[in-house]
This record gives sequence, C-alpha cells and structure tokens, in this order.
Amino acid sequence: MSSGPVGNESGARLAERARQVVPGGVNSGQRSVPGLTDLVVTGTDGARFRTADGREYTDFHSAFGPPLLGHNDPDVAAATAEAGATLGHMGVGVTEGEVLLAEQLTELIPSIEKVLLTSTGSEATFHALRVSRAATGRRLVVKFQGCYHGWHDSVSLNVISAPEKVGGHDPISTGILPEVLEATLVLPFNDSEAVRRAFAEHGSDIAAVIVEPVPHNVGALLPYQEFLTTLREETTKAGSVLIFDEVITGFRHALGGWQQISGVTPDLTTLGKAIANGAPVGAIGGRAELMDLFST
Ligand SMILES: Cc1ncc(COP(=O)(O)O)c(C=O)c1O
Repeated sequence: MSSGPVGNESGARLAERARQVVPGGVNSGQRSVPGLTDLVVTGTDGARFRTADGREYTDFHSAFGPPLLGHNDPDVAAATAEAGATLGHMGVGVTEGEVLLAEQLTELIPSIEKVLLTSTGSEATFHALRVSRAATGRRLVVKFQGCYHGWHDSVSLNVISAPEKVGGHDPISTGILPEVLEATLVLPFNDSEAVRRAFAEHGSDIAAVIVEPVPHNVGALLPYQEFLTTLREETTKAGSVLIFDEVITGFRHALGGWQQISGVTPDLTTLGKAIANGAPVGAIGGRAELMDLFST
C-alpha cells in the first residue's frame, strides 16, 4: 500500500492544521466521521486505507461507492498516468479519449445517443434541468422525497428529511431563493397516483421529472416497475423531459444502469464518478435532439 507524504507528522497535528485552513477540517462535511476527528488518510489500496497514525482500515464506506474497482486499480492508475504524461488541459478541439468514452457510453446506456462530459454529477443534473427548461420553455421540475441530485438550488431539498418536514419544502441549506424552491415540486417516491395528480394539475408547466431510479441516498429503495412506467407515460403525454439520475445506479446494478434493468428509457441520463473509478468526471447524455441544444 502506498503512503502519502506525511513524514513524521502525527495525524492529530495534521488534522489540527486542516481545521485552521479548511472549514470543519474536511473538504465536504460528509467526510466528517463522528468520534474520529484526527482521521488523516495517507494511503489507499483496493479495499483498504491507511492513516497517519499507522492504522489500517477496510473501506466499507468506499467514498459513497464510485471506486467500483477498488482504490488505485492498476489499469485505471496506468491509464490516468499515461493521459497525464501525454495531454495537458485543452481549451480547443477534442481528444481521442473523449471520443472513445462518448462512444462507449452511447453503446452501454440505452437512452444515450449523444453525451457531454462534466466534472461532477451535480453539474450533470444542473445541465439536465437547464436544457429541459430550454427545450420546453417551462418552469417547474419534479423531484422525489429522498432523492439526491447534487448541491445546486433547484434540487437541494427534501433528501433526508425529518418526519415533520416531509410533505413541505425542506431545503438542505440556507441561502436558496424561495422562488427557486417554489419551482420544484416534491412528490413521494413510488407514488404513481401523486405523479398523475401533479401532471393533471401542473402538466403544461412541468419542464422535467428527475429521479434516482433506486434512491440510494436514503438506503436503496427499490422502485415499483409501475412507478417508473407511470413517470414515462405522464412525461411523454405532457411533453416533459424524463431524467434518470444514474450517478449511483449507473455501472452498478448493470452496465446500462437501472434503465437497462427496468426497460424504461428516459430522455436524459446523468452519470458520475463511477465512470472513472472515482476520479472527478460526470456526464449528461440522452436523445440527440435534446443534446444538440447544447451546440446551438
Ligand atoms: C444520485 C446522485 N446524483 C448526483 C450527485 C452529485 O454528484 P457530485 O457529488 O459528483 O456532484 C450524487 C452525489 O452523491 C448522487 O448520489
């Protein structure tokens, strides 16, 4: 297992330095581990990681899942090193690697005819909602209680809600404009009747429905097949865009994501770091007609 450049500095000292210059001492509050305030990781390998104070752990957390092949997978590490040695950051043209990746995603994921790469899953879901609004000229988006789609304002609500907050808007942060929250309708997951009611009432103003086909962010709720079919039927009828956020389900349940398993094909699909075994990359892909709006 490779170790990082901690030298003789103790985990406690390095963690204290982190707290001086990084809010909360970790990059993302999600990385705080209650009771382990001095956790400084110095090396990773497969399913294991080592810390500055010399402990070795089995990584059951696995960064919420993206390193599907384990840490420092030799093939991924070699390909990353080769790309780093060959190509700098480009602001013009396209590279062969981008073409190969786009071709592979279009082959694997049923809904994807054309695809754009992003750096994170949040950017992918952000663009998915924006292009849906652009394509339909409509305002509202529908999300489901318990689904997480990243940090941006339209979807930063109703993920893990206290019981008394379910049924209303429950933003995960302060600082979001109320008018942005109001433009998101939050419905109960797996409730086809609620979806039909929302479309009966607001259908002509619904730009998009976004859903984690299996909401893993609240513990892997399996969707009723009939629920996903209803989403497809109602969005098609109303001319709204159906977005499957497969940032977590993509490449895990099947290489083609949950859409391959369910046979329900959305208009747009978002993907995340699992594409690259945890390295920062995301993607938005789908029907060519929608994706081509990005080039106009
Ligand atoms: C289903 C889902 N969508 C979107 C995101 C946002 O991805 P990122 O953290 O890369 O911005 C996540 C992150 O965990 C996710 O689980």
